[in-house]
Amino acid sequence: MQQYMVLYKRSIEDPSGFWSEIAEQFHWQTKWEPNHMRYNFDVRNGPISVEWFRGATTNISYNCLDRHVAAGRGDDVCFIWEGNDVGREKVMTYGEALEEVCRLANWLRGAGVRKGDAVAIYMPMLLELPLAMLACARIGAVHSVVFGGFSAEALAGRMEDCKAKVLLTASGVMRGPKHIELKRIADTALDLCAKAGHAVESVLVYENDNAVPAADCPFTPGRDRWWQSEVSVQPPSCAVEWVEAEHPLFLLYTSGSTGKPKGVLHTTGGYMVYGATTMRHVFGLQRGDVYWCTADCGWITGHTYLAYGPLLNGATQVVFEGVPTHPTPARCWEVVASHRVTHFYTAPTAIRSLMGFGNQWVEQCDTSSLRLLGSVGEPINPEAWRWYHEIVGGGRCPIVDTWWQTETGGHMITPLPKAWPEKPGSATLPFFGVRPVVLDDKGNELEGEAEGVLAIAQPWPSTLRTVYGDHARYESNYFGPFPGYYFTGDGCRRDADGYYWITGRVDDVINVSGHRIGTAEVESALVAHPACAEAAVVGYDHPIKGQGIYAYVTLMTGVEPTQALRKELVGAVRSTIGAFAAPDVIHWAPGLPKTRSGKIMRRVLRKIASKEEDQLGDVSTLADPGVVQTLVELRGK
Ligand code: WTA
Repeated sequence: MQQYMVLYKRSIEDPSGFWSEIAEQFHWQTKWEPNHMRYNFDVRNGPISVEWFRGATTNISYNCLDRHVAAGRGDDVCFIWEGNDVGREKVMTYGEALEEVCRLANWLRGAGVRKGDAVAIYMPMLLELPLAMLACARIGAVHSVVFGGFSAEALAGRMEDCKAKVLLTASGVMRGPKHIELKRIADTALDLCAKAGHAVESVLVYENDNAVPAADCPFTPGRDRWWQSEVSVQPPSCAVEWVEAEHPLFLLYTSGSTGKPKGVLHTTGGYMVYGATTMRHVFGLQRGDVYWCTADCGWITGHTYLAYGPLLNGATQVVFEGVPTHPTPARCWEVVASHRVTHFYTAPTAIRSLMGFGNQWVEQCDTSSLRLLGSVGEPINPEAWRWYHEIVGGGRCPIVDTWWQTETGGHMITPLPKAWPEKPGSATLPFFGVRPVVLDDKGNELEGEAEGVLAIAQPWPSTLRTVYGDHARYESNYFGPFPGYYFTGDGCRRDADGYYWITGRVDDVINVSGHRIGTAEVESALVAHPACAEAAVVGYDHPIKGQGIYAYVTLMTGVEPTQALRKELVGAVRSTIGAFAAPDVIHWAPGLPKTRSGKIMRRVLRKIASKEEDQLGDVSTLADPGVVQTLVELRGK
């Protein structure tokens, strides 16, 4: 704790110096200038900007792979892949990963991809997914990974927004017992994208024959190429593209309270240094450890704590293609036992779901190798925390409850193992370089014990640099609400010990099983259906998913509310966004509670959804107070 206090103080007072010392551990082709960090966090002083390691050049892919191979660690295992079906496994060393990345990087160059070009990746959790990310980074291309659970429309929108030159995808994917024809979805997306005016030039298709063999996979000659035959004939070495520290590394689309998902942009140098450093301190990995993060590379956790962080630290990690409950709820613990996993990082939703199946599934497996457990993506309730601690961790493993966001690139508020006492449900204290503040509604910093919104007062190395193609939106969304601060969108409480407790989103974003979903996106998918006149979506407490999606729908005059229509509306959301965004409840609403100026009062809708209409508060501004009673009567109908 003492040591942390000293280092933390220094990290806040002298960010340039603090991160320079850490950055020395990486390979830089050219070094940064003194006082390499510049920024403006205040819209009143001009455009928002953040810059780290000014003047330096490097390559993150080189730092993940070549650096370890050059140090004689080429035979160390980097990946242990565990397929969806039991018994499908693969082991890859750093040396082998480097060759694979080089082959793919050569193919990309051959396909005309140059520094700064965007490459879309829509893949299952095969090793080829993180390898593809590293191949893009090697040649200075900007990857944009789209989670395999997103629909064709969602993929199309993202490819169009970033003007992807190439798409990397697979014939299909297995999710538990289900086969999903990924390439068929990708083809629909490619057509939609072309119709919107952007034609993706080449598509590289990995034949995932276990899920969908080539013979059953749609294929457009000329545009499409088979991964296995094209990439294997490429040379196994490939010159690195040295890029500026601020060169874009990737885009990752994420939901906000309004409009379309935003392309969060992260750059190379700061993201690399911060991601690797949080990985090292928060997980405390030692040589010989086996780390396993269950996240998909389609989300930020899979970027920082699967594709990049572990490799930057030369770690050995498990990559899992499947789902925690297939073929039985013992699957995770069987994987832990068979690979002697020491570090396990997952989301509270998975913990709650596995907890629901009972202790026996854990107890029948040997989980004695576990030394540290991690949690990410949503608040963890104390009950799930305790089960994780006692039953999974045998009471001996620290739990790191890591609070962070797509935008922050790496952990922001998190325990450091055994450095200070944990409290179930609290992310505890800020990481080095992070200065959190609790603000009141007017933007005043609150001292000591306080509750308000969480903001960050100065940049950390992996601060998002912009919203791709829309810097104005970046400024208004993150720096507009409280000038001088990065606004997180989360509420929080700071207790008497200075610990932070994240209370959840204060904006119109809902967190379903750790997936961020904008209520506006779900609403626009619903109103696109011809039967729907108006829709309002709110979150409600869900025992497993954290939050569920509750949609109020007003139908067009004359349309009958039927069970079939309900299904159709849910289907509309699935096909516009993805199955994970499907509403749990459709509540027929002849009218919605609105103010006299026509604004929907979501607070009222949240209360009705959670059966708390006795706590509505002040509804005197409602244009038609009778609407509340009607909605309560129609609940469950
Ligand atoms: C929530 C995921 C409580 C929070 C890394 C944040 C959490 C949003 C935690 C970001 C945590 C993430 N405790 N809440 N440990 N971690 N959140 O962008 O609301 O998918 O704003 O990044 O998840 O979600 P995102």
